[in-house]
Amino acid sequence: MAVTILAVESSCDDTSAAVVRDGFVLSNLIATQSVHKAYGGVVPELASRAHQSNIVPVVDEAIKQAGVAKKEIDAVAFTRGPGLLGSLLVGTSFAKGFALSRNIPLIEVNHLHAHVLVHFVNDNREGHTVPTFPFLCLLVSGGHTKLILLKNHLEMETLGNTIDDAAGEAFDKCGKVMGMSYPAGPAIDKLAAQGNDKAFSFTKPMIKGLDFSFSGLKTNFLYFLRDRLEDDKDFIEDNLADLCASLQKTIIDILVTKLIAASKKTGIRDIGIAGGVSANAGLRGTLEREAAKRGWKLYLPKFSYTTDNAAMIGIVGYYKYLNEEFSDQSVVPLARI
Ligand code: KG4
Ligand code: ZN
Repeated sequence: MAVTILAVESSCDDTSAAVVRDGFVLSNLIATQSVHKAYGGVVPELASRAHQSNIVPVVDEAIKQAGVAKKEIDAVAFTRGPGLLGSLLVGTSFAKGFALSRNIPLIEVNHLHAHVLVHFVNDNREGHTVPTFPFLCLLVSGGHTKLILLKNHLEMETLGNTIDDAAGEAFDKCGKVMGMSYPAGPAIDKLAAQGNDKAFSFTKPMIKGLDFSFSGLKTNFLYFLRDRLEDDKDFIEDNLADLCASLQKTIIDILVTKLIAASKKTGIRDIGIAGGVSANAGLRGTLEREAAKRGWKLYLPKFSYTTDNAAMIGIVGYYKYLNEEFSDQSVVPLARI
């Protein structure tokens, strides 16, 4: 019997719903909230209000596009956390109501687990293979920078974590200093392709073990620009591509150095990346070169699965359903997990 999961994701500023059948994505809709652009970052109160108005139409459309009848849905999976509490509450409450009204199981999903499991989505892509276990994944987004070891579909261990900012925050905050709008990551990525990544050199942290740090780089970047602007008010404008390329190279070096160390420490060569920053062309290129050099089997997610989406929630939901890991109606969202 096929297993059909309705999944909802509302942890930050994207309202998403997907229908996943036997690990295959039938639909995956994302309503991105543009309301935050004017504020230079996500405004939690506005995010939860937008989720509230988006969730029903997005779910309706996901079910319609999947071509399934509501009665065919076997379970509903939702993001329990981590994320913004007001935003999580919307998806959690919706999922609870849906499960209750249809008398089907409710499945809570850890958002970070979901980012890692995008590599197990069955999407009939040509040449697409899934990783073998143990699998090592670098999760890089606006809120997280983690090295995660996946032992099987449902068991993971965090090997390394950022001790301050996330990699995406480093892109966004440094971009802001250069006058770019939020989120700056994609624009820096594009400009970096035209710049010289050796034009400037920035601070790299000396953190022991597999943890990361980006706050020193952010401060270094800020002071560097402040000093240069004192002599030349057009410094940023005249050097934008080189600044982006050099900044991006520094962030990539910090990430890749730790990923290599984690691979050496664990002996794992099935390696992937996930999260918003995993869309970065420079990071992808660097990892492809490292993979060829080190004999890694590298897994790069489809671009549509790098940002927050419900398909990834549905894939975790599917494996939890097979393992009968269900939640009851008393479940509450968790901002931190
Ligand atoms: O995973 P995500 O959509 O949301 C979070 O859960 O945080 O990640 C968003 C982050 C932002 O910081 C954004 O600047 C960054 O991912 N990002 C990128 C690129 N695309 C998105 N950073 C660098 N290069 C990109 N191409
Ligand atoms: Zn995310």
